Amino acid sequence: MKKKIAVILGDGIGPEVTKQSIKVIDTIAKYYNHEFTYEHALMGACAIDATGNPLPDETLTICKQSDAILFGAIGDPKYDNDPTAKVRPEQGLLKLRKELQLFANIRPVTTYKALQHLTPLKPKYLENVDFVIYRELTGGIYFGAKSLSEDGTVAKDDCSYSVMEIQRIAHLAFKHAQNRRKRLTLIDKANVLETSRLWRKVIQSVAQEYKNVVVDFLFVDNAAMQIILNPAQFDVILTENLFGDILSDEASVLAGSLGLLPSASVGNSVALFEPIHGSYPQAKGKDIANPLGSILSAAMMMEHFGLAKEGIIVKEAAAWCLNNGFVTKDIDPINSYTTTAIGDLICEFIERHAKGETHPIHERLHKSTII
Ligand code: IPM
Ligand code: MG
Repeated sequence: MKKKIAVILGDGIGPEVTKQSIKVIDTIAKYYNHEFTYEHALMGACAIDATGNPLPDETLTICKQSDAILFGAIGDPKYDNDPTAKVRPEQGLLKLRKELQLFANIRPVTTYKALQHLTPLKPKYLENVDFVIYRELTGGIYFGAKSLSEDGTVAKDDCSYSVMEIQRIAHLAFKHAQNRRKRLTLIDKANVLETSRLWRKVIQSVAQEYKNVVVDFLFVDNAAMQIILNPAQFDVILTENLFGDILSDEASVLAGSLGLLPSASVGNSVALFEPIHGSYPQAKGKDIANPLGSILSAAMMMEHFGLAKEGIIVKEAAAWCLNNGFVTKDIDPINSYTTTAIGDLICEFIERHAKGETHPIHERLHKSTII
């Protein structure tokens, strides 16, 4: 298979984690006979520094002409701490999502036995936790009209949703539920918000087309509690933009590290793959960030290309690293490996697998800290 991938390294740790994914994709190409080519583009704080624009036109063109986009991270503290900044890195990502109509953000939440000690939850609550969040990505309060009164004392962000915007993501979420445990939970705030009442109405009607899927509804405040109290109850969660943003960070606690969660943003054409974590500026350039969120996003890209076995092997490689203690500092602060080392180990795993060799637990190499 031949595919053209737009690469947006982005800010903070974006470049170093994304480089590991490129190594992994190249290894897949080598052993599974594919041809992946890359075209780099700028977005975020680095794009503002270089061009004054968080999403230069050239980036948009490159993305539109690609089969998929691999994206690192966005954000820089110099903008976070300046509420008066007129241009912000995040505007680049939001504009890209809107321009490419990436309306569904898919965030799987997987738990690993080897990481259970990292979560603040007791292990019994983590048994059988495996769900996926469908977050609407191009509507809602993120994209409504914004205003600040002239005297700067009143601010507004409108939240609106149309039936069409709800329907199109609902169909994707229901179809996914049909291939999983056939349960879909809509999370909203229908006791207060008009938009949420529309979501409920539309979901109730779309549900008629997916009779084998059990649908339930939760208010977002209750859902925030249920994700911690009884996360195993969820299969497919469907929710609007802002709630999905917040709940997916919360859900990452179940996995053991925010650095582990991948995502895919899909629409009608090109799709984008990115880890859910931010730019983690404190770790920038230190080779300590967890690359697995990005590498698992690359696995989702393979699946999106229809390369199921390639996606599976990347996921198996990641699980093998986690189960054997080949992990970055966020997971084991004492006995940790570098970002680059984890990328190398994943590539080695894929190579050995392709050659039909087994995967010994090597004591050698790659350690950054040994006590
Ligand atoms: C995410 C991020 C973004 C969002 C930011 C960087 C704009 O938090 O992808 O979850 O809020 O959507
Ligand atoms: Mg977020």
